[in-house]
This record gives sequence, structure tokens and C-alpha cells, in this order.
Amino acid sequence: MDGVQTPLRCFREGHPAEMFADDGVETVTSREQKKVEKSIEEVINVYKQIHSIPKPTLLRDQHYQYLKKGLRHLSDSYECLDASRPWLCFWILHSLELLDEPIPANVASECLLSSVCQFLSRCQSPTGGFSGGPAQHAHLAPTYAAINALCIIGTEEAYNIIDREKLLDFLWSVKQPDGSFVMHVGGEVDVRSAYCAASVASLTNILTPKLFEDTTDWILRCQNWEGGLSGVPGLEAHGGYTFCGTAALVILGKEHMLDLKALLRWVVSRQMRFEGGFQGRCNKLVDGCYSYWQAGLLPLLHRALFKEGESELSQHRWMFEQQALQEYILLCCQNPAGGLLDKPGKSRDFYHTCYCLSGLSIAQHFGNMDSHHESVLGKEENRLAPTHPVYNICPEKVAQALQHFHRLPVLTRNSSEDRPSDDSSADS
Ligand code: FPP
Ligand code: ZN
Repeated sequence: MDGVQTPLRCFREGHPAEMFADDGVETVTSREQKKVEKSIEEVINVYKQIHSIPKPTLLRDQHYQYLKKGLRHLSDSYECLDASRPWLCFWILHSLELLDEPIPANVASECLLSSVCQFLSRCQSPTGGFSGGPAQHAHLAPTYAAINALCIIGTEEAYNIIDREKLLDFLWSVKQPDGSFVMHVGGEVDVRSAYCAASVASLTNILTPKLFEDTTDWILRCQNWEGGLSGVPGLEAHGGYTFCGTAALVILGKEHMLDLKALLRWVVSRQMRFEGGFQGRCNKLVDGCYSYWQAGLLPLLHRALFKEGESELSQHRWMFEQQALQEYILLCCQNPAGGLLDKPGKSRDFYHTCYCLSGLSIAQHFGNMDSHHESVLGKEENRLAPTHPVYNICPEKVAQALQHFHRLPVLTRNSSEDRPSDDSSADS
């Protein structure tokens, strides 16, 4: 049953009070912010003219058609993502699983999923890990995307593609003496790599304390005075990096070492008071993809604070405006022909489709410890499947992969101390 539906924000009296005030000091940034607010106000006004009773609708079928087509054929505009092809597989497959469109169980779709497996297998490097496309160099980002995509497919064929021994060699080849990881051999260091490495290592049961020695300390150095995390120590906090650092620490069972309250304060302040969506960093613009990178932090933080004994949390389950985020995604980020986007005026793409839907799922399911607390905005058919806040694939697929790979031996590398970690907690 639908729970209390608060009136749509756009129908609430006085919402202009939430708009940005430049205090008489106009800058490039303030002008951009006002432009975005104006475009959102226009979207809301048009919506109000058409619908006397607000019922934002998820354009399920349109998204499904857009995604299904993308799995077989991509337009020329995707040429620039030629080094990110496993990402396209992940973005599309995860969006489909959120829509609960199980890539219908017929022979044609089994064939299609098998060809995705075969394609990803061609992206696996002979020296371990996955690359952005066949015959390219292994890189942690497509490695993360490929393994997530294979776990979503979740068949024996998919699991068997992953060469765990070589994957472990690849992870060692990118590990740095200070605990950080480079994205690829000879490449840049930032906190995305620690998350990608921890995610694939934990899913495939090759995570050992030695492989992640000093990684916790390195990630902790990325939390700055703002409360969020930056890409490398000493820079500006950003939602993408904050998610990666926090989720990596959750996998390593060390999230309690962050300043959790400062982090909470930072992330809740990134939800925009007028737009309802999130910005990636202070004084920047709302963007649909941060619906996941930022709002996805809240279930992680909720659990971490709960473990610390924050008793107030059991009474107040909410930590952000879940309805306002859903309203932003449903009213401002949907392309009527299918696919989702950053903000009004931008074009759709598979990255934003994946992360807008992932954020919508978080906003719908966060705090739903029991059936009396439902937060699905609009019709019941808007409801998406839940997503695992650490891996961003459906929780059953995480459980199934862990079960599969935990039956296989733990691999170690030239060291008797290198034993599996007992404190990995993300599987619980
Ligand atoms: C700023 O872009 C964006 C970044 C500096 C990095 C974002 C990182 C992620 C989204 C995480 C990726 C995660 C994995 C697992 C690879 P911008 O300046 O165009 O955007 P902004 O104005 O919104 O900050
Ligand atoms: Zn974006």
C-alpha cells in the first residue's frame, strides 16, 4: 500500500522562497544556477497546466524500448565511448533489472545475454582484468563495469568468463606502495580505483588484507574539511569520489573510521532546495546522475551510524527529501521518447539513464524496513527494484555472485600472510 504521499513540492505554496539568492553579487556561477532554476520552473509550470492532480509517471515502456535497442545497436554519438564499452553493458543491464524487465526469458534473449558474455570475454585482457574494448589495455573502471554486468547476467557462462587468478595479478599490478591504486598500469591514481578494486575483489572472492594493505589510511586522507571526499588527498570534495571512497571502506569494513557526521552533513547539504535533485559539489549545478552518487551514500551512512549506536536513527528513518528527489527525476530527467538525463535541456544517454534510475530506486526504497513505510512517488507502477547501495546491482545478484565465488578457493599471491579478509562486511 502507498504510504502518506506528501503534496508535490511544485504544488506547495511559496516554493520560490527556495530559489537561489545571489545577495546582489552576480557571478558566472550564480547566473548559471538561476538559469537552471528557471528551466525547472518552466517544466513544473507546463506540468501543472496539463495535470490538475499531480501524478508523475515513470515512462517505463519508453525506457525499456530505448534500453533494449541500445543493447544491440548504438548510434554514432557513442563513438567517444569506444574505450568504455563494458560500461555500456553495465548501464543498460542494470537499468533493465531496475525496471524489472528481466530481458525476457526466451531463446532470443538468452542468445543476446550470451553474446554480451562473449563480448565481455573479448574485453578480458590476457594479463588479467578487463579493458574498454577488445585489444585495449586493462583498466580498473571497465573491469568494475564488466564484472558488475556479468554478475547481473548471473549465469554459469557469465561467472566462468572471469579469470580470477589473472584478475588478482592485474589488481596487484595497479596497487601502489602507499595503499592507493592506479586506474591502469602507468595511469592516474584516484579513489575510484580503490572502489573498483575492492568491488571486484570482494564479489569474486579474491580480497585479501595484503592486497588492501594501507588502502584504508589512503582513502581516509581523502576526507577533507568539507566532510566529503576528494579524488586524491587535498582536493575538493565531490559526490562521485565520496561515494567511491565510502563504498570501498564499507567493503573493507572500515567505514566507522570516517568522520561520519561530517560526511552526513556534507551530503545532505548537496540536495538542492529548489530543484530537489543533488549537486556533485558545493556551488555547482544539479545533475540527475548524482541521484545515485550522492543519495546512494545515505543507506551506507545510515547503516554505519546505526552500527555506532545512533539511537535517534531508529525513530527517524529519513535522512533526505526522498519525495523531492523522485520529483526531480520524474519531472525533469525523463526524455519522453525514453532514456533519462542530467537536467532539462540536456540529451539522454545510458550513463544518466542508469544513475537516474539507480537514484530513483534508492529514494523509493530507503528506510523501507517494513511495509508501512513506502515512499514511491506517484503510481504504484513507478516502483523500481531495489539496488545494493555498495555494488549498485540488485541485491539478489550480489548474494548469488558471493555464493558462487565463495565456493571457489581463495587465491593468494606469493605470500603465506596473504589470507582472506574476515572483516569484509558488504555481503551482509
Ligand atoms: C566532475 O565533473 C566529476 C568528477 C571530477 C568525477 C566524478 C566521479 C564519478 C561520477 C565517480 C565514478 C565512479 C566510478 C566507479 C568510476 P564536472 O565538473 O563535469 O561536474 P560537476 O560540475 O557536477 O562537478
Ligand atoms: Zn551527470
